[in-house]
Amino acid sequence: MSEPVTASTRHVPVLVREIVEFLGASEGGRFLDCTFGGGGHSRAILEASPLASVVGIDRDPAVEPMAERLQQEFGDRFQFRVGSFGDCCSQFGERSFDGVLADLGMSTDQLHARRGFSLWEDAPLDMRMDPSLSLTADEIVNNYPLGKLVSLLQAGGVNSGEAHHFAKVIVQKRPIATAKKLAEVVENSAPRKLREKSSHPATVIFQALRIAVNEETAQLRDFLESIPSVIKAGGRLAIITFHSLEDRFVAKSMRHWGAGDTSPAWWPTKSRQRSLGKLLTRKAVRALTEEVQQNPASRSAGLRVFEFESE
Ligand SMILES: C[S@@+](CC[C@H](N)C(=O)[O-])C[C@H]1O[C@@H](n2cnc3c(N)ncnc32)[C@H](O)[C@@H]1O
Repeated sequence: MSEPVTASTRHVPVLVREIVEFLGASEGGRFLDCTFGGGGHSRAILEASPLASVVGIDRDPAVEPMAERLQQEFGDRFQFRVGSFGDCCSQFGERSFDGVLADLGMSTDQLHARRGFSLWEDAPLDMRMDPSLSLTADEIVNNYPLGKLVSLLQAGGVNSGEAHHFAKVIVQKRPIATAKKLAEVVENSAPRKLREKSSHPATVIFQALRIAVNEETAQLRDFLESIPSVIKAGGRLAIITFHSLEDRFVAKSMRHWGAGDTSPAWWPTKSRQRSLGKLLTRKAVRALTEEVQQNPASRSAGLRVFEFESE
């Protein structure tokens, strides 16, 4: 398979107009951008109103030069810290922000940085967004026992049959030194129906490895637990996801927050729980055709927004 043509090797933010509108950034306020990346969303929020300020966080220290640029341009209205949203959101005071954004996954900058995220690069199998993490994709691919590898692939979205098949192939072909080599091993052993798909057969395998290395499921769970308390009454949370595992998790949490009563109708002593607010997006908002044409990465983005109850 040949490398797909992408519009840019620099990160282009997705659904920017939608984020600015849903967060009401043009009215000003204090915003938290939990996934600063290339800073595109932070910049759009800051440009929307001179009364808007942003706290940006990202677990990848490689984004710091981009953050410094925004600091120079917007002064006190922009602050940045390196950190993981699963760990550091609970450190902000209660009711600190009018709006919070999380644009999950990795950035195009990370994809092209020879850090093992890309199927096409002869780069070491690293995949850590935060370089202080100890587990790398190399450790998983070259040292995990078969059973553990199968479970990890399944947890990352690979179906059961394919997880067993590809885990066996990976174990047989060890050592696998680079990301490109891993993609080739998977492609060469993929059943025809997978090779005929438009996406590379190793895409989901890479996704599962990235999720495991960066503990993405635990990060998202901890984030969803801590974030409601840091958002002001009437404030909004916008989350952009890029695959169905994450999207299901986000949708479920937001529906749960919105439900006044989470116990079943037949339950004798109903455990009534006050609704935290309402889901503003019945279905995930998708990029318009024009955006997808300009930025193919936006094709799989889905945005969900929750508004917390006013006092
Ligand atoms: C899709 S990019 C965000 C792009 C950004 N919205 C922009 O406009 O350029 C995702 C970013 O989130 C960061 N990230 C992923 N998981 C994170 C986590 N648990 N905590 C903090 N940052 C995280 C990645 O390092 C990456 O820079």
